Amino acid sequence: MTKKLFVKTYGCQMNAYDSARMADVLAPIGFVGVDSAADADLVILNTCHIREKAAEKLYSDLGRLAILKQAKAQNGEALMVAVAGCVAQAEGAEIAARAACVDLVVGPQTYHRLPELVAQAEADGAAVIATEFLSDSKFDALPPAAASGVSAFLTVQEGCDRFCTFCVVPYTRGPEFSRPVAAVVREATDLVAAGAREIVLLGQNVNAYHGAGARGASLSLARLIETVAAIPALERIRYTTSHPRDMGDDLIAAHGAIAKLMPYVHLPVQSGSDRVLAAMNRRHRVDDYFDVVARLRAARPDVALSSDFIVGFPGESDADFDATLALVRAVGFASAFSFKYSARPGTPAADAPDQIPETVKDQRLAALQGALRTQQHGFNAATVGRGLPVLFEAAGRHPGQLVGRSPYLQPVHVAAPTSLLGTVAQVHIDAALPNSLAGRLDQTNRPDVQAA
Ligand code: 5AD
Ligand code: SF4
Repeated sequence: MTKKLFVKTYGCQMNAYDSARMADVLAPIGFVGVDSAADADLVILNTCHIREKAAEKLYSDLGRLAILKQAKAQNGEALMVAVAGCVAQAEGAEIAARAACVDLVVGPQTYHRLPELVAQAEADGAAVIATEFLSDSKFDALPPAAASGVSAFLTVQEGCDRFCTFCVVPYTRGPEFSRPVAAVVREATDLVAAGAREIVLLGQNVNAYHGAGARGASLSLARLIETVAAIPALERIRYTTSHPRDMGDDLIAAHGAIAKLMPYVHLPVQSGSDRVLAAMNRRHRVDDYFDVVARLRAARPDVALSSDFIVGFPGESDADFDATLALVRAVGFASAFSFKYSARPGTPAADAPDQIPETVKDQRLAALQGALRTQQHGFNAATVGRGLPVLFEAAGRHPGQLVGRSPYLQPVHVAAPTSLLGTVAQVHIDAALPNSLAGRLDQTNRPDVQAA
């Protein structure tokens, strides 16, 4: 019998990947995806714990689901409610205790057990809680990845051993784990066979990857990228998120040597002050970051850099914040994310005495985002008049338009036939908007134009 599944995803790309895999693992027992909770027999909330008020958002969503569940029950229909992701891992049984509508709490390392857990929740009256750490068995037990579009995510590494003092990931995703090279290549091959032309290798600390290779020795991310690049129909490879300390020489060299590896690196720095970096336990200094950037640019001069920043970390002075602005000016980012520090219970920084007032955080965030926005606009504007290879991913907003990505991850809108979906074509960039580009196909690419 067909049953209907609705997954709501919060947060990062790894959660988007996990949501797709949860749907994959539930498909063999009859679940098909639907677009709303109202149509579903099973709702999974795939939560994120990084942002502020994660738990509050979850409980307000659960409040709405409790009402829906009651309404369905009056019609003789059942609704199962599951909470997955990092809040599930962090709060565990507490969630079911606070929200009676919850049937299942499932942590990120237990998704392969979903069919069995759903059956158990159906049979038991009480909520089922599954939050153990079993990374190695999870990936082995998940079914092959289903088609997921021109650009596909592939998790190669999970968890983190770095323990930055603001971050919940080491607690919610557990210790660092790298999937074996053969498993990654198998999944990449499946994704390409299903139509993917770009693969984004995901990990919380992806450049710490050290998966087992064929001969038992572990391979670095650079060697993994080289192996995946050998898949013929695959056009592009990206990876995210990296830690500056794990930017090895071979990964930097790969940016100069592997044509399929895109010239774009997301390299969070968090702060431009050595004092704050030390308090964050980032274990690198500002100069180390500059050094990595210089080496990346030497290997691949056009590399675009993106980053994450936190403002208002406990103890951050005006001078510390000015140092962050100075770092931004010195590096020049193509794009970036910036956040106000928010205390995550259980992390060391949450208990630091010198928390920064919200108003100061607001001012600093506005100043930083202004500077980053100016850089992003400048980066986009500099592509006007150039020709860029664009991988077309989807239909555009207007009929006859496609949207694709430049090598630098900028969305590019182009009038182009749908036959170009999933292919790379050379595009002349005509205009830069704040968050995207507009261009036209180079004449030599046009399938309807004969070459002279
Ligand atoms: N407060 C604010 N930002 C945070 N991040 C992680 N934890 C926190 C926190 N407690 C940001 C970091 C990280 C990004 C994914 O989220 O910048 O790189
Ligand atoms: Fe969190 Fe990234 Fe630091 Fe790991 S390296 S603790 S994931 S911020």
